[in-house]
Amino acid sequence: METSAARTAPAVIVAIDGPSGTGKSSTSKAVAAQLGLSYLDTGAQYRAITWWMVNNGIDVSDPTAIAAVAAKPEIVSGTDPSAPIITVDGTDVSGPIRTQEVTSKVSAVSAVPEVRARITELQRSVAAAAEGGIVVEGRDIGTTVLPDADVKIFLTASPEARAARRSGELKGADLHTTREALLKRDAADSTRKTSPLAKADDAVEVDTSDLTLQQVIECVVTLVEEKRAAK
Ligand code: DC
Repeated sequence: METSAARTAPAVIVAIDGPSGTGKSSTSKAVAAQLGLSYLDTGAQYRAITWWMVNNGIDVSDPTAIAAVAAKPEIVSGTDPSAPIITVDGTDVSGPIRTQEVTSKVSAVSAVPEVRARITELQRSVAAAAEGGIVVEGRDIGTTVLPDADVKIFLTASPEARAARRSGELKGADLHTTREALLKRDAADSTRKTSPLAKADDAVEVDTSDLTLQQVIECVVTLVEEKRAAK
């Protein structure tokens, strides 16, 4: 529930970037909830457009085919950190976008410039509409989508820590396979030509390998509160 303190505090835009398994989603949702801010999961948007491509028989190894239909699906993101649903053409795809099939194809789809242009525009309009401020999590938020964000955080963690967290979320998936899949996706996301995964020069880097989730949340909340106080 929004507190009166949250309502009267100046709007603040928080960009949280980093690879998967660093605690980005859990941290972003908790920070948004704690500070009464909206929340946007941009990875879910790339997953949603990938889900649509797969569902419509588009060959995801063909960037031209992807580009030709990139404008078709209507994607709507909820911004409530306690229930961040996402719909495609009116269907709730919050569950289906987390399948192994979508996860293995999302890097290819999100590397296509027409997809990025479409989704980036969507992200900027969601952020602009969030009156009290918003936490936006992704890979290129601080560098490309919202370069003027008030607070920029770049979360990192060792491949071992990330694989252990992800295999826990996947109910004990094999650690080695999980680690290899994570590193493969990182490599694809970091080396693509259009807005790759990267730390903005003015982002604060937080290595979460040896921190609890609560410690990471506190660290980010403190940075946001300091920024708000200075506004
Ligand atoms: O955070 P996630 O694992 O749900 O993200 C899924 C994919 O989407 C990830 O492999 C890279 C891509 N992505 C992106 O290219 N840019 C973003 N801002 C967010 C995600």
